[in-house]
Amino acid sequence: MPQRKRYLFVCVNRRPDGTPKGSCAQRGSVELHAALKDALKDRGLAKTEVRACTSSCLDVCWAGPVVAVEPDGYFYGRVTTEDVPAIVEALAADTRVERLVLPSNDFDEKTAGPALPTEGGQP
Ligand code: FES
Repeated sequence: MPQRKRYLFVCVNRRPDGTPKGSCAQRGSVELHAALKDALKDRGLAKTEVRACTSSCLDVCWAGPVVAVEPDGYFYGRVTTEDVPAIVEALAADTRVERLVLPSNDFDEKTAGPALPTEGGQP
C-alpha cells in the first residue's frame, strides 16, 4: 500500500461511565471511525489518498469526538456520523469543513465551547 496523502486519527478512547470528563467513544467515535472508513472506501480514497486510523486520547476530550488530520495539522471536533459525507467530499477536493475545525480556544477546557452529550445523555 502506498503512503497516503493524509491520515485521520479518530480518538476512540473510552473512559468508565460516570467519569465527568467523558470520552470520545462515549460520544460515538467508534461508529464515526467505521463510517469514515466506509465512506473513504466508497469514494475511492482509502487505498491511495486518506486512511482513517484510530487513536488514543488526543487531550481535547471536551470537544470530542475529535479527529486529527495529518499532516495538515488541524483537528475536527464535535464530529458526528452525519458529518462524514462533508468531511470525505472536502478531502476529495483538498479542502476542509471549516465549521468542524477546532479553533484555538477549544484546546483549553476552560475556554472551550459546549460538549456534545455522551451515550448516557450526560455532557
Ligand atoms: S477522549 Fe478523545 S480526546 Fe480525550
